[in-house]
Amino acid sequence: RSSVVYSSLSIACLMLNSSFAFLSLPQLVRYAQTAAAPAPEPKIKTFQIYRWDPDTPGDKPRMQTYEIDLNTCGPMVLDALIKIKNEMDPTLTFRRSCREGICGSCAMNINGGNTLACLNKIDTNTSKVMKIYPLPHMYVVKDLVPDMSNFYAQYKSIEPYLKKKDESKQGKEQYLQSIEDRQKLDGLYECILCACCSTSCPSYWWNGDKYLGPAVLMQAYRWMIDSRDDFTEERLSKLQDPFSLYRCHTIMNCTKTCPKGLNPGKAIAEIKKMMAIYKENRSSAI
Ligand code: SF4
Ligand code: SF4
Ligand code: FES
Repeated sequence: RSSVVYSSLSIACLMLNSSFAFLSLPQLVRYAQTAAAPAPEPKIKTFQIYRWDPDTPGDKPRMQTYEIDLNTCGPMVLDALIKIKNEMDPTLTFRRSCREGICGSCAMNINGGNTLACLNKIDTNTSKVMKIYPLPHMYVVKDLVPDMSNFYAQYKSIEPYLKKKDESKQGKEQYLQSIEDRQKLDGLYECILCACCSTSCPSYWWNGDKYLGPAVLMQAYRWMIDSRDDFTEERLSKLQDPFSLYRCHTIMNCTKTCPKGLNPGKAIAEIKKMMAIYKENRSSAI
């Protein structure tokens, strides 16, 4: 080993006359040792990924196998997908943007659970295959890209913004909130609308056209309890039908799967409590 280091050191010394001349001696020693390090054993991990291309006539959904050397890949599932797309198969299609759990666009089903590919670590056990599908029970646009149109339309339907009865002060002064009232929004506002929760909910699978699902209901609740909003009753009133809210049967898949550690199941239970009081007040007023 010492002879390797010394011969590497002599190479390093030659470099002193070249573009490496700016390096200090200890840096050169480290450089030489690194250069002499043997290549690590390949760690081949198998990925099976859902593929379907609507532009190829007659194409049927199938699983495609890719093998990656984990020594040359980042630690997250999104790193593997990007590596496959960049180096092996540019036709593989998936959404991603922030690569740090902020945008919600890389939501997919990995080894049976809905999660964010950028926050999900590759299982380094190379004897196990990683299986990746699009979010379940959604229409597929292509490969791992689900059609989010219905989800976004449902989000729009709850009017996810501050609403005031008196708009005369709009744009003129801040709507202040106490520290306590602001704290009530913690655990709600952090939702990134990735839809992992809604697409893990059996009620949403079967009634996704009429049941709003946990993600959208949690945002409905976030605005209902905002002390600055004046439309709590109207927001509740819109959810009275048998489907929008009441298809939730407290199975809690949603809370279990949320990659941001939020609790949409609890938010839905809180809406149901508010709804009971709202209905009671209404019937006693009649
Ligand atoms: S509650 Fe969690 S799982 Fe559901 S959309 Fe928001 S961040 Fe995603
Ligand atoms: S708690 Fe409600 S919203 Fe969450 S998974 Fe169960 S049924 Fe769906
Ligand atoms: S890439 Fe934005 S959450 Fe994963």
